[in-house]
Amino acid sequence: MTESYSPGLEGIVAGETAVSTVETGLTYRGYTIEELGEKSNYEEVAYLVLHGELPTAAQAASFRQRLTEAAHVPPEVIDTLRSIPKSASTMDVLRSAASLLAHWEPEVNDNSHDANVRKSERLIAKMPIIVAARQRLKDGQQVIAADQGLSLPANFLWMLRGEKPSERQVKALDVSFILYAEHEFNASAFSARCVVSTLSDLHSGITAAIGALKGPLHGGANERAMEVLQEVSSPAEAEAWIRKALAEKRRIMGFGHRVYKDGDPRAVYLKTLTTAVAKETGHDDLEQTAEIIETIVRTEKKLPPNVDWPCARLYHYLGLPIDLYTPLFVVARIVGWSAHIIEQLDNNRLIRPRAIYTGLAERKWQPLAARG
Ligand code: ACO
Repeated sequence: MTESYSPGLEGIVAGETAVSTVETGLTYRGYTIEELGEKSNYEEVAYLVLHGELPTAAQAASFRQRLTEAAHVPPEVIDTLRSIPKSASTMDVLRSAASLLAHWEPEVNDNSHDANVRKSERLIAKMPIIVAARQRLKDGQQVIAADQGLSLPANFLWMLRGEKPSERQVKALDVSFILYAEHEFNASAFSARCVVSTLSDLHSGITAAIGALKGPLHGGANERAMEVLQEVSSPAEAEAWIRKALAEKRRIMGFGHRVYKDGDPRAVYLKTLTTAVAKETGHDDLEQTAEIIETIVRTEKKLPPNVDWPCARLYHYLGLPIDLYTPLFVVARIVGWSAHIIEQLDNNRLIRPRAIYTGLAERKWQPLAARG
């Protein structure tokens, strides 16, 4: 048993999947993320990841229709969002909301393939509403209903701000959602698969996945990466700042990856778009700061950036509050988690690994009076 042990399960194959692979770059159902980012859009990619094929025109239209019909949340859920203390992070609120939504889900405990696809589609439509509504309630504003004519990323910006977003903003958010949509057996997807391998329900799997994504070593890194950048006030200070941080053995959020040792293809792809948006929005200084930090971390630590490094800046350039960065990752990743949950249940076997025991050898129980 000990021969197959690897701390953090590094390099361990823990299952089979047809959803995506990180073997050579990143592909979803056989399509590279670069081609999807260039030619497709988030809703089409969501359909692809969930259903296995790109939609025909008719399938795309009916998917859009189903998303539109599901784009609302029960008033009781909105009331709960209102009553959660403002100090709670949006990720914590979202984790509760995923669980809460289950109580109004008509097929909550139907674990058939088709019911789980329907539930996934409804969650894909509802989660952006929760994120936007919570932010507005926190800011003392009225909740804005979804606009049926807008795509999911455009709708999020509309519901958050109450103004129609520009095409450029929508495209940038859309591409980030494509890149965040799915990523093989990462910690959150694996958590979701573990949960449903007990034959528990989809909402329980998604709730667990949100909890796993929240951690700063996983999805929480995009918020931490932005906080890091805010510590550096100008490009002139960047080199001294990063050298000091590395000397202090600080973990630089947005760098490194368990699988991609030569670089995360999502980070490479997103960097070009992020730099373009920085130019348009007058953030050249921050791009320069990021570039200096990136060069030094690459040289000194041999660590390339992961997707969270450019994405944190992209969300900043889009004017989004930091507390929404990881929740937006959730909004996009619901798609991948759902596909993994469905795939797990289609060919289920309980996930139950073993551990190497490092505790004390067997010993005898002593009565209280004899314990000293
Ligand atoms: N900054 C500084 N040092 C780092 C970093 C980093 N970002 N990442 C790894 N290292 C160092 C570690 O300190 C360690 O050094 P040591 O051997 O001298 O102690 C060595 O590299 C190995 O670190 P591990 O944590 O064991 O490597 P692992 O492959 O498990 O790490 C991980 C992957 C957790 C992502 C790591 O690179 C990290 O913490 N990065 C920062 C958090 C982050 O950006 N997470 C997002 C990942 S992508 C995503 O989830 C979307």
